[in-house]
Amino acid sequence: MITLGVNIDHVATVREARKTFEPDPVCAARQCEEAGADGIVCHLRKDRRHINEKDLCGLKEKVLTKLNMEMSVDPEIVDIACRMKPDQATLVPENRQEITTEGGLDCVANFRRVSEVVAALFAAGVDVSLFIDPRREQVEASKKSGAGIIEFHTGRYAEAFNSGGDHEKELGVLKEMTAFAIARGLIVCAGHGLNYRNVTQVARINGMHELNIGHSIISRAVFAGIKEAVKEMKGLIK
Ligand code: PXP
Repeated sequence: MITLGVNIDHVATVREARKTFEPDPVCAARQCEEAGADGIVCHLRKDRRHINEKDLCGLKEKVLTKLNMEMSVDPEIVDIACRMKPDQATLVPENRQEITTEGGLDCVANFRRVSEVVAALFAAGVDVSLFIDPRREQVEASKKSGAGIIEFHTGRYAEAFNSGGDHEKELGVLKEMTAFAIARGLIVCAGHGLNYRNVTQVARINGMHELNIGHSIISRAVFAGIKEAVKEMKGLIK
């Protein structure tokens, strides 16, 4: 059965808007798990714009399902991940000016550094996923780097869906690349821009293992509460 990882970064974004103590992302993570989330995702960014090390420690202690830490290949962040040992690390590109992760990691251009970080995380006992665009050469480089898991960036599909563009074409790319990656022994996940309207078609892709969703669930939580928001998304992806 396909699983749901809930990204709780934006709970910390609201807290950081006032630099105060609430809302607490660790408390949010536990409520997500109680509502059926299969994993909790957080991104420790270099600029600490939302999640910080204290949050990461709290999540490591309290998350009972799976803690998936999104991270860049920056040496400081890699050191933290190797010390904190989340269940999984997802390597993402990071650019200070971006509002959110804009595209997949370029595993072809950064092959050496990505492979080094994959090896360091494995040595620390952390599973590694690579957040990539659904492209053949990125899948092949990911496999070669030693990572066992990939996550396809679904931004193009989501954008096409939301703007009335050709989302079927983007869905076709995701389907084809999922089959291609599975045939190479990789576990395939997907995420970015998925919401209550566009998620089911991605959830139906043959062999899709996990979806990681943040912004739409936290947005829905403002009106429905976080437990209800997670339950509704779980219901859709089932
Ligand atoms: N997966 C990865 C690797 C991401 O970087 C993000 C964004 O933080 C997501 C999933 C979730 O994206 P969204 O917040 O658009 O649901």
